[in-house]
Amino acid sequence: MPSGSTQSADFVVVANRLPVDLEKLPDGTQRWKRSPGGLVTALEPMLRSRDGAWVGWPGLPDADVEPLVEDGLHLHPVGLSAQEVEEYYEGFSNGTLWPLYHDVVAPPAFHRHWWQTYVRVNQRFAEVVAQVAAKGATVWVQDYQLQLLPAALRELRPDLRIGFFLHIPFPPTELFMQLPWRKHIVEGLLGADLVGFHTPGGARNFRWLATRLAGANPGHGRTEVMVGDRTVKLGAFPISIDSGNLDRLSRNPDVLERAKQIRADLGDPERVVLGVDRLDYTKGIDVRLRAFEELLVEDRISPEDTVMIQLATPSRERVEHYQKMRNDIEQSVGRINGEYARVGHPAVHYLHQSLPREELVAFFVAADVMLVTPLRDGMNLVAKEYVACRHDNGGVLVLSEFAGAALELKDAILVNPHDTDGVKNALHAALTIDPDEGRRRMRALRRQVLSHDVDRWARTFLDALGLPPADEA
Ligand code: ADP
Ligand code: G6P
Repeated sequence: MPSGSTQSADFVVVANRLPVDLEKLPDGTQRWKRSPGGLVTALEPMLRSRDGAWVGWPGLPDADVEPLVEDGLHLHPVGLSAQEVEEYYEGFSNGTLWPLYHDVVAPPAFHRHWWQTYVRVNQRFAEVVAQVAAKGATVWVQDYQLQLLPAALRELRPDLRIGFFLHIPFPPTELFMQLPWRKHIVEGLLGADLVGFHTPGGARNFRWLATRLAGANPGHGRTEVMVGDRTVKLGAFPISIDSGNLDRLSRNPDVLERAKQIRADLGDPERVVLGVDRLDYTKGIDVRLRAFEELLVEDRISPEDTVMIQLATPSRERVEHYQKMRNDIEQSVGRINGEYARVGHPAVHYLHQSLPREELVAFFVAADVMLVTPLRDGMNLVAKEYVACRHDNGGVLVLSEFAGAALELKDAILVNPHDTDGVKNALHAALTIDPDEGRRRMRALRRQVLSHDVDRWARTFLDALGLPPADEA
């Protein structure tokens, strides 16, 4: 694709964030680093193979950045002021929509000025995309921050083919109906030619709302609605990871050596339990710490034999619910270690850091049990990454029933994260599993994850949108 920004890109991905994040260093200089979260993990390899453009926010308020090519990707920054970051990103996106769409596990706040800024910023994104996209181009809009963009873009550029994919759960209709601006959001999404969700349940909920709130007609099948004479397709497209690449990385001798080193640094315990998340209250980090602590209290595990590692990427640090949750988690870690650590041997190792990819893979390889216990999660890529990294068929995955991934990863030990005894017993079962049974489960999980990778996800979505495969494009 030509790198200029004037209506030259045939394939455009739009997400709130660019795949790289601008970071200000203490000496005043700036550098790009990888953006956090599953959306970027999934989409970056796909976009590289299609030579497309990516429109998004560079991650800092008031950053004035020109279009650029970074590591082979054509990036088109959309600037946000400090007030827009506060009201559109931290406010409406992450203080209203995020908790509302995740089963209101924290109370959503409804503020009219946040909504107005959300409308304004979505309109700005539409204007930038209209500048970047070539005539008849395909535009793939991502996630809850940009739900008004499909309709706004169609208004500016009716020639475009527009897809939308929601990376988080689409909520039950009763919860969605709480939103004062529910009709606008549904109408915004109906501007797309195809609206994709992780699960069939999400698509069903949206279809019901489209007919009730936006006057859409049911159409001919369950996978579409009619808006006037336009058909909007709906569907479930469970996202995945670049499984082949992770599998390869996990076999790399340096990574294997590093995994050994990690276990040695931990004092060569018999069992290593791992959690890896963005530090988010939906992820149930507190749930798994409680389960681990209770097993220690009940003397069903000993801190000499079993250690836990929790890696947590800093996230949304200015949003109140996130600040409170971080304090609670750090207090729990302190309490468990106060009671059960010995000098040089913590019972829980907690790193509030984002690790490089190879290092993360070494942790996956080193861990006997992976604990993934969200209260609600659209998919949860960490669960799939762990499986992709266990080429030895070792390791046991304990997975929440309320992660989208549970629909595919049926051979994990599935748990209800609201049931502390259930999680505790599942963790104990994972720690003491019969090795043959563990390998049987992991083999089955790997068959699923390796055959359903992110490339297949993207192809399925783009086929449904009517785009030719990458090599014919
Ligand atoms: P979400 O998109 O809600 O953050 P996912 O589990 O779908 O949740 O995706 C999280 C992504 O972030 C995964 O690719 C995971 O490997 C990565 N990640 C999470 N925590 C860390 C960490 N501490 N260091 C590096 N990468 C991390
Ligand atoms: C989830 C969301 C993404 C978001 C990511 C990181 O994966 O679905 O849209 O980018 O979390 O969150 P952040 O707020 O830092 O972009």
